[in-house]
Amino acid sequence: MRKKGYVIYPFGRRGCKRSMMSIEMTPTEIHEGRLGEQIRLTVVAPTYREVESLPHLIDRIGKVRDRYGLDIDLLIMDDDSRDGTVELIADRPEKWVRLIVRTGNRGLSSAVLEGFHSASGDVLVCMDADLSHPPESIPLMLQKLQEGADFVVGSRYVEGGTTADDWGLLRWLNSRIATAFARPLTSVRDPMAGFFALSRATLQAGVDFNPIGYKIGLELIVKCRCERVVEIPIHFENRRFGASKLTLRQQLAYLRHLRRLYIFKYGLWSQLMQFLVVGALGTLVNLAALTALIHARLPIRWAVALAIWVAMSCNFVLNRRFSFSFARHGSWLLQYVRFVAASSLGALINYALTLWVLRRASAMPPQLAALIGIAVGTAFNFVASRYMVFRAKHVRGERSDR
Ligand code: GDD
Ligand code: MN
Repeated sequence: MRKKGYVIYPFGRRGCKRSMMSIEMTPTEIHEGRLGEQIRLTVVAPTYREVESLPHLIDRIGKVRDRYGLDIDLLIMDDDSRDGTVELIADRPEKWVRLIVRTGNRGLSSAVLEGFHSASGDVLVCMDADLSHPPESIPLMLQKLQEGADFVVGSRYVEGGTTADDWGLLRWLNSRIATAFARPLTSVRDPMAGFFALSRATLQAGVDFNPIGYKIGLELIVKCRCERVVEIPIHFENRRFGASKLTLRQQLAYLRHLRRLYIFKYGLWSQLMQFLVVGALGTLVNLAALTALIHARLPIRWAVALAIWVAMSCNFVLNRRFSFSFARHGSWLLQYVRFVAASSLGALINYALTLWVLRRASAMPPQLAALIGIAVGTAFNFVASRYMVFRAKHVRGERSDR
């Protein structure tokens, strides 16, 4: 039975014909009278080709269940691995293990989100299936939630946290740089972690989930506006079986994901940040074009003018694509004309000043003169906008003494 690209396997009935049912038909396992006493916890483990790791994962979670008397169930979200996962789970006796095989939608983050939505627990845990994350830390995560945390991260980068020794320099560096990029979004030391816990209530407070790539934990911290994020140290183990699915493509997806999160969190400020980055890039483009055009023996007047035009056009394209991407479906020609009009006075000043400086100091490298032109042109643009376009009398409620 397939429903919207899902096959759901209820297990724990060894030997019986494998029947499948929809999410709605899955019997709820919360027993009357137990809710108050015991919290139900669902561990969601996304999998793609992890059949060798799964028996160990189930055994270790089983031990935690027994030792702490916790009501934990494991929900494996598999993206149609066809590696024997289905058969393996069918043969396991544990009633608390459930498998959902997705055949339509794919990807780690969406597997986790969909898993959370079909989970029955009041507390939700996400962990890798490859035994990188220790299930033995789950009771402490639960305790931290009960003490008032919104979100608990199994962290490599807090005191006591470690990673397996043979993490190459490259992976370590990569992870550190990726973490630094996320810094303005959260102060969590290990926001890249794929091992975390939150309550269902926190998840439900989240809006606008739109993850791409791997960083579902970061998405949840930002979109659920988690404030009390607690990190507990873990040892991040190397996988023993199978191979990592983290590719360059995932890393690029991370950059796109970051941009979305910045926009979500910072709104207008994120436009300004992007505008400034584009401006800085435009300066580099301007200087590179100027150098190339001088090299091509173009008269200096033409070289300066052309370089400004190239940079301005480049800024336009980037601002349209990034800073103000909400308007990128409008007519580009009209927008281009407006953009040029808005920046023309600054550009003209830039042009005139660069040439004037060069005439006064002919020994000066033209790039330096261009930088002076750009700086004054940009300052003029700013002042003109501030005092001619956005004048104080247009600002409602502003006091006259300011
Ligand atoms: N359902 C599903 N679909 N699962 C997937 C997919 C997918 O497309 N891609 C990967 N997985 C599962 C893997 O089977 C594994 O259980 C888990 O997601 C993590 O994938 P790995 O391939 O083992 O990732 P990793 O070890 O490189 O990355 C881990 O460490 C990073 C920090 O260094 C993950 O925990 C990342 O989330 C974490 O950022
Ligand atoms: Mn892994």
